[in-house]
Amino acid sequence: MKKWYAVLGDPVSHSKSPAMHEAWFEENGLDASYVPVHVPEGTVGEAVQALKTLGASGWNVTVPHKQAIIPYLDEIDPLAEQMQAVNTVSLLPGGRLRGSNTDGPGFVGSLEQAAGTGLKEKKVLIIGAGGASSGIALALSQAGYRSVSVCNRTVKKAEAVAARTGGEALSLQEAERRLGEFGIVIQTTPVGMSTGSSGLPLGLQNLSPGAVAADIVYSPLETEFLKAAAATGCKTVDGLGMFVFQGALAFERWTGILPDTQKMKDRLMNEMGNTDVNGKTEKLLEK
Ligand code: ATR
Repeated sequence: MKKWYAVLGDPVSHSKSPAMHEAWFEENGLDASYVPVHVPEGTVGEAVQALKTLGASGWNVTVPHKQAIIPYLDEIDPLAEQMQAVNTVSLLPGGRLRGSNTDGPGFVGSLEQAAGTGLKEKKVLIIGAGGASSGIALALSQAGYRSVSVCNRTVKKAEAVAARTGGEALSLQEAERRLGEFGIVIQTTPVGMSTGSSGLPLGLQNLSPGAVAADIVYSPLETEFLKAAAATGCKTVDGLGMFVFQGALAFERWTGILPDTQKMKDRLMNEMGNTDVNGKTEKLLEK
């Protein structure tokens, strides 16, 4: 029987996940489809019951349900448990539901694909201390990155994330001053998003030209942060790779196949009239 998968969220109609997963199903000769399901806040329990009844084989979970779905699952993997956030649900043999989180590992995969090897020895600084920051910090630590520090407008929140990695917690002012110490700098705040505030979360004048600068925002693809980092000579990693990789890791959990991420990234950029962040043209990507 044809299998089917879904993404649950609100809003969800502009999600690129259905087109991405359907392309991967086709590419890998799998008879399956993937649909967006609009699930308003407070109704995720009913949605889970409905998906089980209707025979979905797995689904992604996005805003605002990543935490709210946890009580409706039978088990969750250790990273999702630590983060208290699930973005992927798999149906296990016997009908049990397992939650996992591929956002942080997706970022690590994207970083390593774009920036190469020898990264684990570099000192990492994460800007921002929300859910995305915490997932990335944990995933970097689990992947063997030695030193993961966090800076944030509200230092207390940076302390909470840094406590999980054993790294330092810095204010934005301290981080700006000491930026040259870091070999990888990761921007996780909404500053620079097409729907958020413009500009930079902190000044990059002390950024080392040998550093790797990554942003998790992909709308626009080339954020102010990446533009400023590229101007200092840094290698830059845009946020589209994280989106593609988190999807690829979900696809692997469902099918056992890790799909082609580079091809998908190129395809999404082409479809939307973008070139690479280091390229010439850009157009807004919708989430
Ligand atoms: P998510 O869970 O998606 O990562 P979030 O929880 O809204 O997002 O976290 C956003 C992060 O960006 C927070 O660390 C926030 O700083 P505070 O903890 O001080 O609120 C940070 N942030 C948001 N707007 C910012 C701005 N204009 N300048 C600097 N940091 C900002």
